[in-house]
This record gives sequence, C-alpha cells and structure tokens, in this order.
Amino acid sequence: MAKAPSQAPPSFLYILIVLTFLASVSESRPNINYYAKSCPRFNQIMQDTITNKQITSPTTAAATLRLFFHDCILNGCDGSVLISSTPFNKAERDADINLSLPGDAFDVIVRAKTALELACPNTVSCSDILAVATRDLVTMVGGPYYNVLLGRKDGRISNAKYVEGNLPRPTMPMSQVIDLFAKRNFSVQEMVALSGAHTIGFSHCSEFSSNIYNYSRTPQYDTDYNPRFAQALQKACGDYKNNPSLSVFNDIMTPNKFDNLYYQNLPKGLGLLETDHALFNDARTRPYVEVYAKDQNRFFKDFAGAMEKLSVYGIKTGRRGEIRHRCDAFN
Ligand code: HEM
Repeated sequence: MAKAPSQAPPSFLYILIVLTFLASVSESRPNINYYAKSCPRFNQIMQDTITNKQITSPTTAAATLRLFFHDCILNGCDGSVLISSTPFNKAERDADINLSLPGDAFDVIVRAKTALELACPNTVSCSDILAVATRDLVTMVGGPYYNVLLGRKDGRISNAKYVEGNLPRPTMPMSQVIDLFAKRNFSVQEMVALSGAHTIGFSHCSEFSSNIYNYSRTPQYDTDYNPRFAQALQKACGDYKNNPSLSVFNDIMTPNKFDNLYYQNLPKGLGLLETDHALFNDARTRPYVEVYAKDQNRFFKDFAGAMEKLSVYGIKTGRRGEIRHRCDAFN
C-alpha cells in the first residue's frame, strides 16, 4: 500500500505569524469593523454624539448630509472640506458654494472627534467620522441604513480653487449635472437617487430667486412651479436681499422626514430648485423620478446603494493620508 507523503505539522509560531499578518491586513483594509479593537466604543460614541446634537439642533441631519456630499464629490471622501483657511491657504470650505454649509454640520464632527480623541487618541479619522455621522443621521430622520466601510485617512490638501465647476449648481443644465456625476462613475439613476437627499433640509432664497422674481414673461415666475407655490415663495423670500438667511424647506410636505415625498412633489410643481424641476422635465431622469415617487422601498434601496458607493469614492488609505488630531487643521 502506498504511503501518504508525510507532512510536517506547521509549527505554532508559523501559525501565529500567519494569523498576525492576516489580522493586520484586514485591519488596514477598509472594513466595517475597522475600529473594533483600536476604538471599541467608536459606534457608541458616534451614536451618543449625533443623537444629542440632532435633538438639540434638528437641522443637523440635512446639514451633515450636504457637507458629506460636498466633501466626497470633490477629490473623494477625505474630510478636506472640514479644514479651516489659514493666511496662506484658502480652504475648500471657503469656496463660494460652500459658504452656505451650515455650522451645525461642522459642529457635530468636532464634537464626535473631541469625544473620540479622549477615548482613543490618534486613532479615528475625521473622514470616517463624517461618513458615519451622515449615515447615522440619515437613519435617525427616517432614511435607510447602509454599510459604511471604515479606515479612510484624511486628505492633506484642501484648496478653494479646486471647487468651482466640480459641484452641481441649480442653474446647471441637466446634461452638465449628469456629466459631473458620470465623470465620477455615478449613473443617471444613482444621481437621481442621491438627489432624493433634498427630501430634508432647506435652500436659501438666493438659490432660486431668479425663478420666482422678475421673470421676463407673464406670469412673473417660472411656470414649472405650481402657481400657488410660486406665490408663496415670492412672499416668503420677499426680503431676501436685506435678509440673506431667508430660506425655504426643500420638501415642503414633510421637511424633516426622510421619505419619497420629494419625488412626489416634482410632478406637482412643488420642487424648489431649478435642477429639482429638471429631474422631472428631462426624459433621461424622469423615469427614475416616477419610480421613486411610487415606490419608497425602491428609493431607499437605491439611495442606500448610491450612498454606500459615494462613501468610498476616492478614499485614501495607508500612507496616502493622515489621522488628523483636529478635524479643522492639518497635523
Ligand atoms: C444634483 C445636483 C444638486 C444640486 C444642484 C444641489 C444644490 C443644492 C442647493 C443649492 C442647496 C441649498 C443650499 C443652501 O441654500 O444652503 C442644496 C441643499 C441640500 N443638498 Fe443639494 N444639490 C444637489 C445634489 C445633492 C446631493 C447628491 C445631495 C446628497 C447626497 C444633496 C444634499 C443636500 C441637502 C441635504 C441639502 C439641505 C442642506 C441643509 O438643509 O442645510 N444635494 N442643494
């Protein structure tokens, strides 16, 4: 009878080395348990911070979602939007389009970072904090849960001059908006699903004033608006030049609830921004608007998928970034 080739049993030390190697690889690759060992209270601290903040300032969820979008779409989710300007560098957040990013969003990140630095110093990146805060806040106001891989490093560049043209504006034609997302590998469907973020939060009157005042024709507003809605907007924004903080809810039906009413509003002329109207008017985007207006589960599934994808867009790992000590300044 043939004898099975004898195999020397791997030594204990060998197994240990392999296990240690595997553990270090899985720790350095983005994964959802990235901080399980290095910062076991990470999830709890995040939850406590965002719950306290959202309860005292209910605008935080929308503010943070927009902040996250503006961070990610420009050169990846690397926390670069959180950096403050210095006399030598005008940072991303001071670019014209980012000046309306609300203080509450920055504040919730600073609070979480402060608590996390006490619990586990030099361990958790600001970009991971922003990604998880966004997901937890979206869920808290009724939106879908999605997985957020962790292990991002913070970027080392934040410059206002790279912002213009890379973020969508309400005055952009739909082709340009589609193109902006396509360049980052987001499909038309993903763009429409992500735009459902406008189910919460508000917009300043200046963002849509050209559609409701001094319109060249009669009536003096863009006829994409429901007439009564347009008149209500004209009234609400009447003093916006003297009072630039005047603003209106993006979803007038359920402004604080993450749901699919944003899409139901669009065919009724109750969208707020020109790009919101365009999503319904453009043949490329309208089919998705119609699906999401009818089927909230489908919207939630696609929004969650697109957010999961956005959350890892252009992330920096390993030596390509740093763990900042403070979220508003480079180390
Ligand atoms: C598709 C093109 C988009 C355009 C043109 C656009 C434009 C705008 C504008 C002008 C505002 C009002 C800002 C202000 O006045 O303070 C706004 C608000 C907001 N946007 Fe967008 N946006 C777009 C897509 C997105 C996406 C993809 C997200 C997130 C995934 C998002 C999230 C938000 C949120 C949550 C608010 C409310 C912010 C708050 O209440 O503080 N937007 N958007």
